[in-house]
Amino acid sequence: MKTDSHGGNIYKKAKELGLSESQLMDFSANISPLGLPGHMRKAMIDAIDGVINYPDPECMELKEAIALNDKVEPSHITCGNGGADLLYRLAFGLRPGKVLLPVPAFVEYEEACTAAGASMVYYPMQGDFQVHEDFLDMITEEIELIILCNPNNPTGLLTPRKLILSILDRAKEMKARVMVDECFLEICPDEADYTLKPHAEEYENLLILKSFTKLYAIPGVRLGYIISSDPAVIKKIDHAGQAWSVSYIAQQAGLAALSCPQYKEAVIKEVAGELSYMKKELAALPLKLCDGQANYLFFRTPGITDLDKRLEPFGIMIRNCSNYENLGNDYWRVGVKSHPENVKLIEALSRCFCDPGNDNQTG
Ligand SMILES: Cc1ncc(COP(=O)(O)O)c(C=O)c1O
Repeated sequence: MKTDSHGGNIYKKAKELGLSESQLMDFSANISPLGLPGHMRKAMIDAIDGVINYPDPECMELKEAIALNDKVEPSHITCGNGGADLLYRLAFGLRPGKVLLPVPAFVEYEEACTAAGASMVYYPMQGDFQVHEDFLDMITEEIELIILCNPNNPTGLLTPRKLILSILDRAKEMKARVMVDECFLEICPDEADYTLKPHAEEYENLLILKSFTKLYAIPGVRLGYIISSDPAVIKKIDHAGQAWSVSYIAQQAGLAALSCPQYKEAVIKEVAGELSYMKKELAALPLKLCDGQANYLFFRTPGITDLDKRLEPFGIMIRNCSNYENLGNDYWRVGVKSHPENVKLIEALSRCFCDPGNDNQTG
């Protein structure tokens, strides 16, 4: 079992530091700073008596609600036990031989694809961490699946829709599929300009991955979905896992989430405000900050490889990015949290870097 390849393992870190989980400030995961919305909390509590039955294996009601929200056909949706579950179902259902991936990228893509026997072809995003037109040249007849993350994890950078459409066209010519992970996109104010959802019907080779985890702060519930207009793909993904992968409680949580669009607006507003605050403060510190647009920020502290350890005395966890392909161990990612927590992070970072009386200073 993999336990150390991601952020968010508060259980292990709290034990290591002799703290309770609530004493830790976890900047290593990137979850809505507004926390679990009240109406979803209530829906999950109210759902408790429903657990005596198996959940609907087809998630029919939830698919109808997602379809209405995303303006796609219910039959073009398949739900899963979080986005990560769907990545594995996708990899085992489609069994691509060669997968093209811009790196650095979310570690789970490679984990899932190689577990299913695929070999990876990397497009290293050098310097500006962006996908450029030369990516098209890498889409050869051998490539069966292309994975793009928009905005990318860990950088938070967005790839223009125009370029993704060119990638889809080229991939179509080469008979390759393109999976675009939009799990963080709905937290970005410019979602409408970047999402591929309006193109889901047009491109049968397109798959869009979505998750309820980040926006609705429910990483512990596990709920995600894939959109694809190719019925064969939906069938293969469905058949690559158990029938009841989405619990009754998760289905009710999803329905409640979609019933209240105001919450999404509130998260977008909160994140945008905190993101600009953090960018301004981080820019004043001796680090190389990437101008990400998601609810997390990515930076490098050239030569400083123990920033996570330096922040531990402050009860702060951040994500070391050294297990991302193409990154060294002086790259970091921090989630955008509530304002008081973000202030504490900035204060702690300033002390790590600047306080002459601090043994932890960088020099
Ligand atoms: C880019 C990206 N996609 C998908 C996921 C999967 O999220 P979940 O399995 O919680 O839905 C994550 C989780 O961190 C992620 O970072």
